[in-house]
Amino acid sequence: MDDETYPFVVVSNRLPVDRVVDEDGTEHWRQSPGGLVTALEPIMREADGAWVGWVGAPDLEHEPFDHDGIRIVPVALSEDDIQRYYEGFSNDTLWPLYHDVIAPPSYHRIWWDSYVSVNQRFANAVAAVTSENGTVWVQDYQLQLVPRMLRQLRPDLTIGFFNHIPFPAYGIFSQLPWRTQIVEGLLGADVIGFQRSADAGNFSRAVRRLVGYPAKSPVIDVPARGDSPARRVVARAFPISIDAAGFEELAHRPEVEARAAQIRHDLGDPKRILLGVDRLDYTKGIGHRLKAYHELLQDGRVDVEDVVLVQVASPSRERVDTYRQLRDEVELTVGRINGDFGGIGREAVSYQHHGFPREEMAALYLAADVMLVTALRDGMNLVAKEYVAARFDEDGVLVLSEFTGASDELRQAVLINPHDIDGMKDAIVRAIEMPRPERRRRMRALRKRVRDNDVAHWSREFLRTLAEHSRGGSDPLGELEWTVDRAPRS
Ligand code: G6P
Repeated sequence: MDDETYPFVVVSNRLPVDRVVDEDGTEHWRQSPGGLVTALEPIMREADGAWVGWVGAPDLEHEPFDHDGIRIVPVALSEDDIQRYYEGFSNDTLWPLYHDVIAPPSYHRIWWDSYVSVNQRFANAVAAVTSENGTVWVQDYQLQLVPRMLRQLRPDLTIGFFNHIPFPAYGIFSQLPWRTQIVEGLLGADVIGFQRSADAGNFSRAVRRLVGYPAKSPVIDVPARGDSPARRVVARAFPISIDAAGFEELAHRPEVEARAAQIRHDLGDPKRILLGVDRLDYTKGIGHRLKAYHELLQDGRVDVEDVVLVQVASPSRERVDTYRQLRDEVELTVGRINGDFGGIGREAVSYQHHGFPREEMAALYLAADVMLVTALRDGMNLVAKEYVAARFDEDGVLVLSEFTGASDELRQAVLINPHDIDGMKDAIVRAIEMPRPERRRRMRALRKRVRDNDVAHWSREFLRTLAEHSRGGSDPLGELEWTVDRAPRS
């Protein structure tokens, strides 16, 4: 047990570190890639912060430990918890429901029960390690009940919640048999952050419809109940971003630039490289993208001698049926396209079913003339922002779905509706043929946007809002804000 307490605690389903066991059985921890930990690292260090989360493997009880100046507090999940709370309710109920039912959500009471009990376990773990009057920041849809549970356990805490995925329109959200409990769970927070204003609006409407509290954007008035006093909750958009300067620095490294040239050469020096980078998820519109590309080859508008599509599809949630089916469909389609149009030593689609280190990603972005982000629904899509950050040469064209949160900000991309296959085909051809001055003009504007709104800006804005609304008028984050402002940008 950890008897220490911490004034600033972040809690997410997954910890920001991965457990690696060497061949000789020794264990060590590696920071997982991702913007969140990069953004929060400086604050966590300075503020003596702790991070509560799951290790990512079944039945792994682990004592709290320090990693790079951050206290890591593991929460154990059993095989049953993983099947019901994580793969079931989180990723086969909430995920499809919140992404506009692109795949049908499954509703199982046994999964819900597990979601409640695992959320309670996370809340208990946080309550045990957070100092008096401390601040807690809860992350994402897997933990929507934690704010309320935590407030019941520890009314002294300031609680923030950030939803990394979309929040659906009421007509869809209202399918959920436990919709009222979810809304009540979230309202335990002082500040509830969403990616887009539309998500915050959807949430406020759900509050009005389900619990009838006055909700006039961005404030929701939660009335007094029993021992709990009346409270004001803020629900608004805080679009998340990436460590833009860090990504740019990476792309600038001579070895990364050399690797980009090597990639182009290895692909047969095509005139244009198209790139898709996604977790292998049905929300990403990979099938729609492949269909558009296949048709362009069939129509003869794109010649495989000139153009190649690189598709990186990193494995994800592989035990969930919908994900298994998606993998089969995508791989069948890639096989067909290559069978129809590939030649010996020349593929029409170079398909990679694995993740890559950040350096290799940066090299791929630099090599790609056209980046295809064709999600059917996406909370933000950080790949779009990474591509922009990597293009210090002010070249490359971003084709971006209107159904991503990123499209609210990245207006200079070539915006598409991925359901409109003809429109997407025209956009791809336009991107392939776009003259250099137009590419430069668009990329400059995109880069300014991403540079000015990086992930440090995101966390600073969220924590400042949380501090302003912290209970009792005190400002537990005053010191932290100072730290974030002075945090190195890479
Ligand atoms: C999305 C979610 C995250 C999640 C990530 C990877 O970005 O918003 O909460 O961690 O996908 O999914 P996984 O199920 O592997 O954690």
